Amino acid sequence: MRIVLIGASGTIGKAVANELGERHELITAGRHSGDLRMDVTDPASIRMAFEQAGAFDAVVSCTGHTTWKPFVEMTAEDYRFGVNDKLMGQVNLVLIGREYISDGGSFTLSTGVTDHDPVPMGSSASMVANALSGFVMAAATEMPRGQRINVVSPGVIEEAMADYGPFFRGHCPVPAARAALGYAKSVEGLQSGQTFRILG
Ligand SMILES: NC(=O)c1ccc[n+]([C@@H]2O[C@H](COP(=O)([O-])OP(=O)(O)OC[C@H]3O[C@@H](n4cnc5c(N)ncnc54)[C@H](OP(=O)(O)O)[C@@H]3O)[C@@H](O)[C@H]2O)c1
Repeated sequence: MRIVLIGASGTIGKAVANELGERHELITAGRHSGDLRMDVTDPASIRMAFEQAGAFDAVVSCTGHTTWKPFVEMTAEDYRFGVNDKLMGQVNLVLIGREYISDGGSFTLSTGVTDHDPVPMGSSASMVANALSGFVMAAATEMPRGQRINVVSPGVIEEAMADYGPFFRGHCPVPAARAALGYAKSVEGLQSGQTFRILG
């Protein structure tokens, strides 16, 4: 397969690139990294990157930011940041990518363990993750041309504990290489509409 991988330079993206790169051709994309320049918060840049990518069979998204703050300090603007970035950034990858991807192609998005296990300062992450799960569940039933869509929901990543550890006390970290298997299952398997949870 030819796979467009967004966020290949990140903690999870690097492991996904190692896993899928063994068997497939990767076209990597990011704002400042990868083969193609793409900012998922900018639909025009998504379209341009897909046009430059040539034919492809899968889109894998390993990107998405939300605001991490105590709930009492969260503002509407803070939630809007996560909605524009992690939620609509990944939704727009699907809305635009479905025009370009091959018949039977797949989309794989990223959420995280906060979809069912809330953590301190993670209310935006939980909100966005559940919105994405709902989107994937419903979109899967209406995807055109045999296309599939899933989301991978990893636990906190071992390699990211220096940054995220304080939010995830009591959680068992997941090595990025193990999280990457969820993405392989989505891309190389047959399921659609699923949330693949990879927990420690
Ligand atoms: N790290 C964890 O413990 C963990 C656990 C569970 C779930 N997740 C989720 O998994 C996803 C990836 O997390 P990560 O920790 O691997 O991220 P990361 O290390 O911060 O890497 C993010 C990657 O995405 C690219 N990127 C960032 N903003 C972008 C944008 N607007 N448009 C296109 N590309 C963009 C970055 O490259 P450029 O800088 O070149 O754009 C980079 O390659 C996120 O949704 C995160 O919430 C992470």
